[in-house]
Amino acid sequence: MTAAFKAFRIRSEGEGVVAGFEQLQLADLSPGNVVVRVLFSTINYKDALAATGAGKVLRRFPLVGGIDFAGVVETSTDPRFSTGDRVLVTGNGLSETHDGGYAEYARVPGDWVFPIPPGLDELEAMALGTAGFTAALAIHRMEENGQKPIAGPIAVTGATGGVGSIAIDMLAARGYEVVAVSGKSGAAEYLKTLGATRILSRKQIKSTGRPLEAVQFAGAIDNVGGDLLAWLTRTVGFWGNIASIGLAGGAQLETTVMPFILRGVNLLGINSTSVPRALRTTIWERIATDLRPRHLERLVTRTLDFADLPGAFKGYLDGAITGRTVVRISSGRDAAGSADAGHDSGDLGGGSGASAASPDAPAGPSGDLDATGE
Ligand SMILES: NC(=O)c1ccc[n+]([C@@H]2O[C@H](COP(=O)([O-])OP(=O)(O)OC[C@H]3O[C@@H](n4cnc5c(N)ncnc54)[C@H](OP(=O)(O)O)[C@@H]3O)[C@@H](O)[C@H]2O)c1
Repeated sequence: MTAAFKAFRIRSEGEGVVAGFEQLQLADLSPGNVVVRVLFSTINYKDALAATGAGKVLRRFPLVGGIDFAGVVETSTDPRFSTGDRVLVTGNGLSETHDGGYAEYARVPGDWVFPIPPGLDELEAMALGTAGFTAALAIHRMEENGQKPIAGPIAVTGATGGVGSIAIDMLAARGYEVVAVSGKSGAAEYLKTLGATRILSRKQIKSTGRPLEAVQFAGAIDNVGGDLLAWLTRTVGFWGNIASIGLAGGAQLETTVMPFILRGVNLLGINSTSVPRALRTTIWERIATDLRPRHLERLVTRTLDFADLPGAFKGYLDGAITGRTVVRISSGRDAAGSADAGHDSGDLGGGSGASAASPDAPAGPSGDLDATGE
């Protein structure tokens, strides 16, 4: 393949970054033995940090952005993959140390590449993407550590975000009672549709200053960090698991050892980037089976064309986005060049996909976060 292709590339400039579309050749990409024609990528909070420079995500420059992608193998010298295979990649070094998914072609080591599990297509694989993988990894680790629906409700913070929305859907499908903790006042209908039984307003959560408070939850999935995570350590009950995923509200954690030594609470760190291949395989198998979300069509609130990507990051930094954004990178042509409408229609669940559930639509929740998240 010698033709130039379109890529969204992030460059270092002064103290910050500049990012935009460039024409690249395959030789410009980070090395790897599998070349994938990218059909879909997504926007995650981390992508917004990387593309705007609001967070230090890239560890070398320049790099193509995009921490995940799904597409079709174009060429492979890895014997596990053949031309035409439908594959996905999330995490690893994408958009940190290696060119990512915001390009019509990606080149990666075969160890990072996974066949899209049976029952999912490229669009669904990216409707889930890093967010779905992370939510599933959190639930998997909590259950390995003894979490069961019968123990009681699970709190999910950053509830309307990508990870939060998918976690609610997966937990509810597994029979957990889910309490969604959100900063968006108009999000109740959306969150209940996904399976939350109760909604708590993040802004009404007040700290008592005590090291332990009355037990409210049997476990938690936290996407926010800071004071909210500290509050969860004080309100999760005996032997409960708290999966710490994100820092949308802050990276600090001020708590005491009391929840751990008096209630046996477990704080589980979730890292979706550096995951052994065997565990990744298990997680994707679970995502396609017992953890498969029931409301993917509702979760995907936007499907963007590649050209619209640059304007889409700010909403993430403002905490104003609900659900998942899928980015249609290129049309679904198989490696032989024939159109494959079944895999590029941008159509989830019988055509109700993005536009039907746009965040601008009247039914969507409103974004009303304050700057501190409290
Ligand atoms: N550990 C890992 O491997 C891993 C993997 C994926 C993501 N993450 C992290 O997990 C978090 C969620 O990722 P995502 O892709 O789901 O992001 P997202 O779609 O942008 O969702 C983040 C959600 O957090 C809440 N939020 C935003 N700003 C906030 C603030 N200032 N204070 C408190 N809450 C705020 C909002 O939900 P409400 O309005 O409903 O409260 C928002 O929708 C991010 O911090 C991300 O970096 C970590």
